[in-house]
Amino acid sequence: MGPNGTGKSTLAKAIAGHPDYTITGGKVLLDGQSVLAMEPDERARAGLFLAFQYPSDVPGVTIANFVRAALQARLGESDLDATSYYKKLYEKMDLLKIDRKFTSRAVNDGFSGGEKKRCEILQMAMLEPKFALMTKPTPASISMPCALSPTASTSSEPGSWASF
Ligand SMILES: Nc1ncnc2c1ncn2[C@@H]1O[C@H](COP(=O)(O)OP(=O)(O)OP(=O)(O)O)[C@@H](O)[C@H]1O
Ligand SMILES: [Mg+2]
Repeated sequence: MGPNGTGKSTLAKAIAGHPDYTITGGKVLLDGQSVLAMEPDERARAGLFLAFQYPSDVPGVTIANFVRAALQARLGESDLDATSYYKKLYEKMDLLKIDRKFTSRAVNDGFSGGEKKRCEILQMAMLEPKFALMTKPTPASISMPCALSPTASTSSEPGSWASF
């Protein structure tokens, strides 16, 4: 958290491994391990999540397929069967009060600002990161169910989040 223009989004993107930034000093440790040598996808698999302030549209890719691909990548070799995936997806969508018809809509394509934020939070809820960096996640129209906090994740380590 902090005033506008003080570098919150820049810091979050640098931690997540955005290619626009070169880190010239300091350390970023996750579970005691430096993430700076990791590619962005490796950082995500290690449990880091970045919710975008201005998420991109992904026309042609449905939310259901997008989140499933991300979750499969996060789980690695473990199998993700369709039944348990959709059960979990619908549970999280219900918590966030996202209409189920959104599963077949293209990611962020034509979404309102609040719908885009919900979509970001849905991704976070499904991926259950150890550490979530969020830029302006909660416009007044969104109430954040506490069950979506990474602290409620099934991970053995309690999760954390930083909201900017
Ligand atoms: N460490 C830094 N040194 C110099 N300039 C920086 C640094 N970090 C960010 N900036 C610049 O400061 C400006 C604001 O950065 P940023 O978008 O990260 O702010 P913010 O805190 O997320 O703002 P907002 O609350 O409006 O979203 C940008 O022009 C960015 O390039
Ligand atoms: Mg910002």
